[in-house]
Amino acid sequence: MTQDELKQAVAREAVLHIVEGAVIGVGSGTTANFFIDELAKVKARIAGAVASSEASAKRLAGHGIQVFDLNDVSDLPVYVDGADEITEQLAMIKGGGGALTREKIVAAAAGKFVCIADASKLVASLGRFPLPVEVIPMARGYVARQLEQLGGQPRERAGFVTDNGNLIIDVSGLSIPDPAGLEERINNVVGVVTNGLFARRPADVLLLGTAQGVRALSRSRA
Ligand code: A5P
Repeated sequence: MTQDELKQAVAREAVLHIVEGAVIGVGSGTTANFFIDELAKVKARIAGAVASSEASAKRLAGHGIQVFDLNDVSDLPVYVDGADEITEQLAMIKGGGGALTREKIVAAAAGKFVCIADASKLVASLGRFPLPVEVIPMARGYVARQLEQLGGQPRERAGFVTDNGNLIIDVSGLSIPDPAGLEERINNVVGVVTNGLFARRPADVLLLGTAQGVRALSRSRA
């Protein structure tokens, strides 16, 4: 199976998690795009969607799915999105597409986070994928120096502006034995909007596309 076929398989499986008549949260990226296309086939069963990026909002609207502002939605039972890396504990690195802040907001508001990913995204520990950090432009130099002190090599994503008008610094070389601790530490640097570690609010379910079929992993809640 190709990587796209694996992404399509998990997108199809994620449709089983939609809640009838509810608004659904929809993420960003190539795997989320497959999900949007699957969602279009069952759009009569949902009230609409909240999107984590302008690109996803456009794709949803193109399929005739109503897109809601998150502020107008009081109940969001499910959020479906991809990941750049994910562990068996369901902590993730996200933001390869630069939509990390809106993704984290929609994930925070959602009752259940369903992550859809092909097998290449499953890792023993996070950090091989450079960690995206969304930064207020005037803080770029200061934040980069702080990230260096944490042991990373920061590099500004050239020519990229987020949907929120900010820039992205990608940080490579980080060792991440404690994803939730590092997530909090980086978020506490003044000028950082958010970072791509999703460990304090990890996924609840992972649908992993493998050559043997879709494997489902759930997080046990304390
Ligand atoms: C977008 O900002 C990201 O968080 C994506 O969810 C993540 O990069 C996964 O993207 P792909 O599905 O394209 O690999």
